[in-house]
Amino acid sequence: MIHVPPVATPHFVQIHHTNNADLRAELQAGLMAQPAHAAPKFFYDALGSRLFDAITELQEYYPTRTEAAIVAAHGPAMARCVPPHAVLIDLGAGSCAKAARLFPVLAPAAYVAVDISVDYLRDALGTLQQRHPSLPILGLGLDFSAELALPPEAQAWLTDHALQQAPRCVLYPGSSIGNFSPAEALALLRQARTLCAQGGAGGGLLIGVDRVKDRAMLEPAYDDALGVTAAFNRNLLLHVNQLLGSDFAPARWAHVACFNATKSRIEMHLVSQGEQTVRWPGGERHFADGERLHTENSYKWTPEAFADLLQQAGFAAPTEWSDDQGWFSVFWAPA
Ligand code: AVJ
Repeated sequence: MIHVPPVATPHFVQIHHTNNADLRAELQAGLMAQPAHAAPKFFYDALGSRLFDAITELQEYYPTRTEAAIVAAHGPAMARCVPPHAVLIDLGAGSCAKAARLFPVLAPAAYVAVDISVDYLRDALGTLQQRHPSLPILGLGLDFSAELALPPEAQAWLTDHALQQAPRCVLYPGSSIGNFSPAEALALLRQARTLCAQGGAGGGLLIGVDRVKDRAMLEPAYDDALGVTAAFNRNLLLHVNQLLGSDFAPARWAHVACFNATKSRIEMHLVSQGEQTVRWPGGERHFADGERLHTENSYKWTPEAFADLLQQAGFAAPTEWSDDQGWFSVFWAPA
């Protein structure tokens, strides 16, 4: 008789279903504002998460492969900073590919994946659990841009696995911190530090940050020749239609990406092609020809300014690694 061991399924806690009303209110406020805006978290429905994965394979989009090269080159040095058998808390886990590449290096005791794109995360974790059958895995479907803290269900899960006292390593790869203004980033980093400090000694934050560089390199990374980033940007409208019941027509919006050197950020916008009125239950918004909907900021940092921000957030002096070209930074910041 062949004994088939049971396949573990990851534990999953979904927080953000209950907050859909909050998300709708936030969307409406942004659509009514002058200028109109929608937060980049609204890119990530299931299709948006897939389109983002496609972006990371584009020749023009250097951050993902540059960060992977830094991890490959400096993995052993990172492993000397990050305590072994930590609880690895992955913010914006997505496909979980970046974290999974770190498993052999960091040897975590457990993996907690946090993402707003719940269905996509659930699928990714199912696959991951099959490849790592004995690793305790927890999925958290929540919007940490509103508040970053472990919900009671997650605390209970850690207690069940006797991991309440384990050191915590918060992972925030890919330069996703770039979506936040310096003031918002500081607030989020403070919460990340608290989260690390609540675990055992030795915890900290491992974070990827894109550096300031030439416009000639930045702009194509956000406006690629195949139009994948344009599709990613327009897909936000389909996601908004689904959340809000609005009638955005993606074909009537053009993708624009430009580097704002004063604010040190890439800005993505959707530009209304002709005059149009968008309607949803309980509201409408008129857009003039050429009027914009601001969908994303992606801030670029100097390593000095970011190290300073980490210390303002309460972390100890960080260690930084970069690539040969100096395009991207990975920081370890002890809590
Ligand atoms: C996921 C926020 C890191 O800003 O580079 C990629 C998102 N937007 N192309 C970035 C994104 C357009 C990405 N982050």
